[in-house]
This record gives sequence, C-alpha cells and structure tokens, in this order.
Amino acid sequence: MTYEITDPAALAARFPDGFRWGSATAAYQVEGAADEGGRGPSIWDTFSRTPGRVLNGDTGDVACDHYHRWESDIALMRELGLDSYRLSLAWPRIQPDGSGAVNREGVDFYRRLLTGLREAGIEPLVTLYHWDLPQPLEDAGGWPSRETALRYADYAAICARELGDLIGTWTTFNEPWCTAYLGYASGHHAPGRTEPAAALAAVHHLNLAHGLGARAIRAELGEDTPISVTLNVHAVRPSDPGDPADVEATRRIDGLGNRLFTGPMLEGAYPQDVLEDTAPITDWSFVLDGDVETAHVRLDALGINYYTPMIARALAPGEVGGSGGHGEGAASPWVGVEGVGFDEPEGEYTRMGWYVEPATLTALIADLSSRYPEVPLVVTENGAAYEDVVVDEGGERRVHDVGRTAYYSGHIGAVADAIDAGADVRGYFAWSLLDNFEWAFGYDRRFGIVHVDFPTQERTVKDSGRWYSEVVGAHRASRP
Ligand code: FCB
Repeated sequence: MTYEITDPAALAARFPDGFRWGSATAAYQVEGAADEGGRGPSIWDTFSRTPGRVLNGDTGDVACDHYHRWESDIALMRELGLDSYRLSLAWPRIQPDGSGAVNREGVDFYRRLLTGLREAGIEPLVTLYHWDLPQPLEDAGGWPSRETALRYADYAAICARELGDLIGTWTTFNEPWCTAYLGYASGHHAPGRTEPAAALAAVHHLNLAHGLGARAIRAELGEDTPISVTLNVHAVRPSDPGDPADVEATRRIDGLGNRLFTGPMLEGAYPQDVLEDTAPITDWSFVLDGDVETAHVRLDALGINYYTPMIARALAPGEVGGSGGHGEGAASPWVGVEGVGFDEPEGEYTRMGWYVEPATLTALIADLSSRYPEVPLVVTENGAAYEDVVVDEGGERRVHDVGRTAYYSGHIGAVADAIDAGADVRGYFAWSLLDNFEWAFGYDRRFGIVHVDFPTQERTVKDSGRWYSEVVGAHRASRP
C-alpha cells in the first residue's frame, strides 16, 4: 500500500482565518480514577466490569490516567500547537447519583482542567454527555424513560452554574445514535440492552433532553449562549442507485440513523416516513405535546463525526451482508430493518474494519450545509485506528503511523474541498489526542495521534501527531 500525504503548509493554506484545530477525547475513555474524587458509578463501569462485554475484559478504571495527568496532557497539546480541545464532562463526577447533590470535588476537577486549558491558550469545546450515564438513572429506566431527560436538564443547569464562566460553546450530546441503538437495541454498548422499542423511546428522550438541556443552559447564562450537538451523521448511499430496493434500504438507514435526530433538533418535526416504518415496534406515544418544539432550539454549530461511508444494499434471500461497522452486538442496531447489508468495497480499511473514503466527507458536509445553510459545521471527530509499532531510534521513541497520517491528510483535504465548494466549516478535531479506552474494543484499538503505553502511561507523539502539528503550525504562521 502506498500512502499519499500532502505537504502540511500546502494543506494549511487552504483553510480560512480563524479556523480551529484541535483534538478530542471523552471522559470515560481517558480519565480513569473511576472510584476517586467522589465519582459515582456509570453504566460504562457496570458494563465494562461485566465479563464478556468488553474485549479482553478491559475497563476504564485507569484508562489514560488523565484525571491525574491533565497538566502534562495540556502541555502536550501546547507542544503540538493545538488551539482547541474537545472534551466531555463525566456526569457521575459532577452529580454522582444522577440527581440531587453536586460533588464539589468533581466540579473542582473540571474547573482546574478548564482553567488550565484557557491559561495554555486552548479553547475548550465541552460535551455534557459522552455516554457515561450515572448508574442509578439506568436502574430507574435509563434513556427509554422520560425521567432521564428531566434529570439531564438539571445536570445541564448545574454545569452552567458551576462552569459557565469557563465554557464557550456547549455541546449537549455526542452521537445520541450510539446511546440509543448500540445501548438499547444491539447491546454492543452500555447498558447492553436489546429492546428495539426501548431504543426508539431512548431516541426521543435524547432529543427531548437535548432541547431541555440547551434551554436550561440558556436560562442560566443567557439566550445567546452558543449551543451545539454532535451527531454521527451516517453517510449512507445505495449500492446501486438504479435499484429501487437499494434506494429503499438507504432511506430506512438514513431515517433511523440521521433523520430521527436532525428532524426534531433542526427541523422541529419527526420524519413521517420513519414513524410509519417503525409503527410495528412502537406507537411513539412517549412523544408528548410540545416535546418536538422543545427539542428544536437554535444551534450555533452542528458537530459531525465522520469515519467511513455506508453503502446500503438490499440482500437477496439467504444472503449475508457486511455490518457497515456497526454490526457488533447481540442484535442489529437497525431496528425493524431486515434484509439490508452494507457493501465492503475493495480498498483501504482501518483496524476498525472501516473503509477509507475521504471524498464522502466532502459530500456529507456539502449535503448538510445545503440542508441547513444557517448552521456552521464543525468536524468534531475524524481519525483512524491502525496497528502501531513503537520503535527505538537512537534512544528516541517513534511511531511511524503512515496509514493514520495518510487518513488525516486525505480527510483534512476533503474538508478543504468542502470549504472551497462554499460550506461554512469552522473547525476540525482529530480523534483522538490519546490512545484510549475504545468502548467495547477496550485498549485494542488505538486512535491516538499520541501513543500511550498503558502499563507505564508514557506518551509518545506519533508521526501523525507530528504531521498534524505541522499543519496547525503552518496555518497559524500564515495568518498571524
Ligand atoms: C465515536 C465516538 C468516540 C470514539 C470514536 C472512534 O463513535 O464518539 O468516542 O470511540 O467513535
């Protein structure tokens, strides 16, 4: 395989003034210190400690030990020259039971972290929920229960009160698709339930919580407080655009995967076709009067996480199709959809088994910006897992991750193409700053631009991190 890598300065020159460059992480994936600082248990503690749920029995108990190493991790970001950092707050650190008392130690941890970032000149982009629901709320029903959305609104208000002076843009949720369908339909993620109707109720309560949370934050901090949400918008297309069955399969995946979220959040309505498709599973009676209006708030940015395209195909009877990267788990995440598979074309794949196709990111951005021209876009996650090898070169540790570097080069170029075509894209966040706890794959899938040796916690900037740092540096140098 020969990889193409663009010259960093040439690539940087394609981005406008003020474009933000960062890296992203999530609390449970990096913090560790699971039982420290007054933190309560989350569904990911329970899930990862349940044998058979996570590869190799890995847990986030220690992860990257970021809870103790945040200062040196900020120094690392500074060394890389990054101007932004996307992180998430652990709800169970701030409100250990998911309701009631606030845990001062948790608030203080985030105050120190956010202050440290600001002092280092790094703008934090904060996500309130990146999958670590306090366990007591799951015990009371979890996201399929309306109560969880109400508790989330309280939690958002607490965060606004306690941390409002340190946070610019608030992201309500990361990839609610994963929470709803991987958590409650396929069981690949915590809490590991396989109940299709519950998954659809979770979809609705996540949409509702997004709106309630955004409104609670704006009630505390002012109506002009910037709000965003990050969606893993599925870039789905039909295998054969001339085959009506493939086109229909695409409609179904797009409906469940995208429009059930973009509908209420960005358009103020659920898509009628998807409500009809799912009628055999649920009557949607959990959608109460006014909910959809509540979910529809002004968004100051839409975050998109993109890794790979999905090429949907209607399967012949008895045929088995590819999973499209989401097939793991006891059941399908695509509730009510049968006989649909995903093509796995010839070409480059990452260690997640995800097909590499940068041009699809350009198309995805173009599509979203034509549908929602008033909403600026931010690529809040993009990156790749590859098998990494640490080599010793005259006493210096190096990781020559050429595949990952090429992935970044291709995809950052794809973002530039979208900007050239007129899209309003404000920033790009590499997933991830550090190798970390990759959910059900534990520590087996490395996404970092910085390598982590988990037994020693030693950090080593990979070649991809060095290359990315050059892009960011060249952009800054060209626009003082
Ligand atoms: C996304 C998640 C992120 C990480 C990447 C690889 O779905 O938001 O936490 O696991 O995938």
